Amino acid sequence: MAIKCIDEIEIAGKRIFIRVDFNVPLGDGGEVQDDTKVVAALPTIRYAVDKGAKVILASHLGRPKGKVIPEMSLAPIAHRLSGLLGQEVVMAPDCIGEAVASLVERMKEREVLLLENVRFHLEETENDPEFAKQLAALADIYVNDAFGAAHRAHASVEGITHHMVVACGFLMKKEIEYLINALASPERPFVAILGGAKVSDKIGVVKNLMGKVDTILIGGGMAYTFLRSKGYEVGRSLVEDDKVPLAKSTLKEAQERNVDLRLPLDLVVAKEFTPDAEHKVVTIQEIPAGWVGMGIGPQTTEAFAAVIKGARTIVWNGPMGVFEIEAFAKGNEGVAKAVVASGALSIVGGGDSIAALKALGLADKITHISTGGGATLELLEGKTLPGIAALNR
Ligand code: 3PG
Repeated sequence: MAIKCIDEIEIAGKRIFIRVDFNVPLGDGGEVQDDTKVVAALPTIRYAVDKGAKVILASHLGRPKGKVIPEMSLAPIAHRLSGLLGQEVVMAPDCIGEAVASLVERMKEREVLLLENVRFHLEETENDPEFAKQLAALADIYVNDAFGAAHRAHASVEGITHHMVVACGFLMKKEIEYLINALASPERPFVAILGGAKVSDKIGVVKNLMGKVDTILIGGGMAYTFLRSKGYEVGRSLVEDDKVPLAKSTLKEAQERNVDLRLPLDLVVAKEFTPDAEHKVVTIQEIPAGWVGMGIGPQTTEAFAAVIKGARTIVWNGPMGVFEIEAFAKGNEGVAKAVVASGALSIVGGGDSIAALKALGLADKITHISTGGGATLELLEGKTLPGIAALNR
């Protein structure tokens, strides 16, 4: 790739501004509930420290919309990062202004400073040029390791790059290697597994992948809108009524383009959407009125697993059903096990699919687990992400 990586530029003794994605879930007491994204940024941060740079980290957290919301302070993350790095991480009171500038001024080599939530300023999301300039003034070099925010044309992601030497971090590099490079020239057969609640979130992905993959397997909540568009009665299953025509035209397009797009053949349905509800396996032709689809059935799981077995590249986004409830988790589990057993290069994105893999203890058997939510989806939709384009000038 034409993008320079942090290890291709001279950073010793320099002030380096690293944009990270520390948008992690915090508990009511402010404790970090899942530090996956913080851990994922460690290689870049450690590298910069080891090389003797003065390391300035910046991130957003939540969507404070330009207001200072104490619950969205990055302070708890500074604390967690200190523990992970084994050195003090100084928490700045803001991300711009005199107090921050003087903290930076006093920084010594190998020290780490975490700026306060950039979204406490509305100018961040507005990509305000003046604000971007103020951020840029803090450092000599800009490194973007925030893949999860790469779809946002915000000041600390895009605007700032107009004023500095730019490079990507190791996490960003890895995400690009898998989600752009590997998917551009995949070993075949190339299989996409798509699930999750809403067809509206994934239709762009289905359309883009149609021209690229050999087979698309659709399960999870989004499948019911497709089944409805084929005329099946789906009871009280999740259907986006206004997306039925789009689902129908997408299936037609798949047929015309000779894409092997598969929908569930059978389902686990329940009388109620509750963990202990009465449930049974039915074919898609016999979903009882008033029952709710909770996940793919055994026949579908077997059919999907047979396709997955032969795959050499797999991209998976979204679970195959309500995996959080044991009675409905089997289909998703069967698909996860098939992905791992296939030995294919596997790329998984989306918080729920990752949570399901972690719960099954299979996450470390996946070739690449993306840290991006919206960013991963937009890449799979074939879009250019402003945060990546800005590194590629
Ligand atoms: C994410 O969690 O997906 C990223 O941090 C982006 O957050 P955003 O959707 O609030 O921009």
